[in-house]
Amino acid sequence: MTVAAENPAASASSLYYYDDLRIVHLELTHRCNAACPMCARNVHGGAVNPDMPLSELSLADIKAILLPDFVARLKRIYACGNYGDPIVAHDCMEVFRYLREHGPNLNLDLHTNGSARRPEWWRELAEIMKAGPHYLRFGIDGLEDTNHLYRRGADWKTVMRSAESFIEAGGRAEWDFLVFRHNEHQVEQARKLADDMGFKEFFVRKTGRFTSAGELETSDRFDVLDKEGSFEYWL
Ligand SMILES: C[S@@+](CC[C@H](N)C(=O)[O-])C[C@H]1O[C@@H](n2cnc3c(N)ncnc32)[C@H](O)[C@@H]1O
Ligand code: SF4
Repeated sequence: MTVAAENPAASASSLYYYDDLRIVHLELTHRCNAACPMCARNVHGGAVNPDMPLSELSLADIKAILLPDFVARLKRIYACGNYGDPIVAHDCMEVFRYLREHGPNLNLDLHTNGSARRPEWWRELAEIMKAGPHYLRFGIDGLEDTNHLYRRGADWKTVMRSAESFIEAGGRAEWDFLVFRHNEHQVEQARKLADDMGFKEFFVRKTGRFTSAGELETSDRFDVLDKEGSFEYWL
């Protein structure tokens, strides 16, 4: 992206033409407040992945990489990522404000575990996002007694308060429910809760990450470890 931005007339040998780009997947940060056992940012829900650099994009970085006329041409930017949660990025709100300012019709989307920030923060984010097409996808894998078994470190009350604040302020919230043996009996109850709270969509997801032996074989259980690498429980 940076190389192409410095040379908008990308050569035929480039992987893409800068002027043709319409969708950007934005990884704002490699930091996260949670430790989901099958997420690459940590070792089975315990220690932070030692091979992962803990980096983050600031508002200044975003302004330098995603220039205003480039943002104006885009159809969609979604902040999801592979190693972090966008809501813990220091400049998350200001980055979204900048993107909405230059992309009033941009589809502005964000994926999160929802377990951080104050209600006022969520209301402000909703005000920015709802000025155009958007969704905010909460990864909530169960109910009060089970969500933390996969979303390790997530606090149920904080997640619910975040979603309520975002929805009350007019934001479009969606719920992603990853199904495990420990929460499969709660899918319908969660679907009803999502509906009652005003979520616009409820997606039931199956994971393909029950793998072992260098990911060559599937397995019916997955070890969850603590920060010292000791076994805690199986998924
Ligand atoms: C690495 S997360 C980053 C975004 C944010 N932290 C979150 O969890 O929504 C990217 C996506 O991976 C999903 N994910 C996490 N664990 C998964 C699993 N075991 N199988 C499939 N998707 C998973 C998350 O729900 C999220 O949609
Ligand atoms: S919340 Fe997202 S980034 Fe954080 S550990 Fe879970 S899947 Fe990974």
